[in-house]
Amino acid sequence: MTDAPKPGDAKTDEPGDYRPNDYLPGDLTPEERLARMIRVDHAGEYGARRIYEGQLAVLGRSACAPTLKHMHEQELHHLRTFEDLMVQNRVRPTALQPVWHIAGFALGAATAMLGEKAAMACTVAVEEVIDEHYAGQQARLGDDQAALKDTIETFRQEELEHRDIGLQHGAEETPGYELLSGAVKAGSRLAIWLSERF
Ligand SMILES: [Fe+2]
Ligand SMILES: [Fe+2]
Repeated sequence: MTDAPKPGDAKTDEPGDYRPNDYLPGDLTPEERLARMIRVDHAGEYGARRIYEGQLAVLGRSACAPTLKHMHEQELHHLRTFEDLMVQNRVRPTALQPVWHIAGFALGAATAMLGEKAAMACTVAVEEVIDEHYAGQQARLGDDQAALKDTIETFRQEELEHRDIGLQHGAEETPGYELLSGAVKAGSRLAIWLSERF
């Protein structure tokens, strides 16, 4: 006999998993999962805003300033959208927001000081992680959250546009690209993990 799915089999503790499942004491409720999802996305967009502000503080008068400003504008729109969703769903921001305020700016400024290509390499690495993160959320959202799913898809496409802009500006020509990219990705994944939980 094959192992038929039993109640509870489909349950996961993935943050943001919105599929109906058997709720057990100690599990996250659908509301808590949605709250985590909005909280981490807000944190990510906040961090993105601060990265571009750090880059603009260093490269604000350079040839790539208009490109950085364009991406910064889009991050501000993403951030405001998640701010509105937080109010509508009564979600608190991450307790780590003061950390992302400083760490985001520092990451942006530090990579910009290494040069325009390193700044772009930072963007490419962050956006690759965000693409993964948003795609994972879309897969976990049910049809009852179609509006949020659409919003995330729109933003994911814009993040991919940022990644492509970074690649077009020679991100991969940065000396030590693999090392820099790996470090930024690891930091971004850690920030996501922390922001979902705190
Ligand atoms: Fe964004
Ligand atoms: Fe972005």
